Amino acid sequence: MRNFTCRVVAAFTLATIALPQLSASEPAIKVTVDPSKAGTKIDRQIFGQFAEHLGSGVYGGIWVGKSSSIPNTRGIRNDVVAALRAIKVPNIRWPGGCFADTYHWRDGIGRTRRARVNTNWGGVVDTNDFGTEEYMDFINQVGADAYLSINVGSGTVQEGADWMEYMTADQPTALAKERAANGHPAPYAVKFMGIGNESWDCGGLMTPDEYTAQMRRFGRFVGSYNPKSPTMKIAVGPGTDDTVWTEAVMKSWKERRGWSFDIQGMSLHSYTVYEGWPPHIPATGFDETGYAHVLRETLKMEPLIQKQVAVMDKYDPEKKIALVVDEWGAWYAPAPGSNPGFLIQQNSQRDAILAALNINIFARHADRVRMSNIAQMINVLQAMILTDGPKMVLTPTYHVFKLYVPFQDATVLPLTYDAGSYVHGDTTLPRLDAIAARDAGGKIWLSLTNLDPHQPLDVNVAALGFGASAATGQTLTAPKIDAVNDFAHPDMVKPKPISATVKEGALTLTLAPESVTVVSLDR
Ligand code: AHR
Repeated sequence: MRNFTCRVVAAFTLATIALPQLSASEPAIKVTVDPSKAGTKIDRQIFGQFAEHLGSGVYGGIWVGKSSSIPNTRGIRNDVVAALRAIKVPNIRWPGGCFADTYHWRDGIGRTRRARVNTNWGGVVDTNDFGTEEYMDFINQVGADAYLSINVGSGTVQEGADWMEYMTADQPTALAKERAANGHPAPYAVKFMGIGNESWDCGGLMTPDEYTAQMRRFGRFVGSYNPKSPTMKIAVGPGTDDTVWTEAVMKSWKERRGWSFDIQGMSLHSYTVYEGWPPHIPATGFDETGYAHVLRETLKMEPLIQKQVAVMDKYDPEKKIALVVDEWGAWYAPAPGSNPGFLIQQNSQRDAILAALNINIFARHADRVRMSNIAQMINVLQAMILTDGPKMVLTPTYHVFKLYVPFQDATVLPLTYDAGSYVHGDTTLPRLDAIAARDAGGKIWLSLTNLDPHQPLDVNVAALGFGASAATGQTLTAPKIDAVNDFAHPDMVKPKPISATVKEGALTLTLAPESVTVVSLDR
């Protein structure tokens, strides 16, 4: 247990919300927000999710079947849908991942489904009970947009085109009639479509030239059949800080001509894997070195994005092509005793901090990073939700996504601060990481992360000319850096209201160690 001295909240407090005060030994960090210089919109699509046919990411985590005793709507878990609605999930990428390049959509439509072995993940049988209709029903229940990965690895251009026609055609074509016969006369909207997945590895080990040849064909012939509901096409991008692949994709796009293909996005995959592949460090039971090293590793997302953006800017200075970070998050050793092919791992307060740091990086590059998908949504890697039969638990990462809901489609505000340092052994990290944004209602929102696992951090925030008179907020902290929520203790890590003082327009608050805090300023 840490020892915190109590501090009396000043009499000028206009908005205070319970809870013990902490005391920081270091001087307060001054943060200045300039609301007169609004930046780019933080596209809500950066809070996207990813559900692959992998372990219990779909089967058990989403789909339990219509006859299950677990409360469900047409086979889809009600508890999971409610939890996802609460974080306003904007899009869900499906069916993979590596699985997507082995997926044949006809296996998963109609009354008779074709079971196949999931050759990527654990060699188990995939019944294909969860197919196109069930996915569309699921995202509709959640209120999210569709993001489908098209099979480029083992599929054909015609197979991809037929799938898109089946889903989106708004005229009485044979495939639209087949969709209607399967219960859905109205066309589905497919807002996003990925042209393959990791084609440089599990998607076919292609060279950049081999991939761009596929990208031109799939990008030309596979797309929406409904002009009223277009589909944004996302090419496979790099998975390292190498820019050869990015150069090839962007050059190919730049040189397109005539009545040819187009893309609107390029992906980037970057996991936080400490000490190399295969991922072998534990998700829990780590010490402070494990905490500091993983956070140091995750902060490499910033230079990685900068490097890729520099190449994209060269070919696309108008920023027409979005950088879509459609796989990111922490990847650790499989949970002890679990099937290693199921990528099950626990999720701790370290992961909550990691999630906030990455979202902040995406927000700082909001002009180019307009979409992202954390890997993965349920029971796989850095999940939002863990399930076990009828039980469900929300992870610390889920709570970060909930805290950040007000940042969806808010406008970035520039802010300045001296972050200070948190030093542990050979690792020096910023003590504070922060972003600010204004929502559609004019409220200013701040996200403030204290990376230091020992010291509370005093912060003074001046929002120039805003005339703040009150502040409210919540903080996510934990009794220890590897604290988790599990089925026995589902609320070990959970946001709590935080005390915030506003005096003469300036906000003062104390951030607990290893915490993520989101506060709003009101006039
Ligand atoms: O998210 C797990 C896997 O990681 C995905 O299937 C693949 O795209 C990536 O290598």
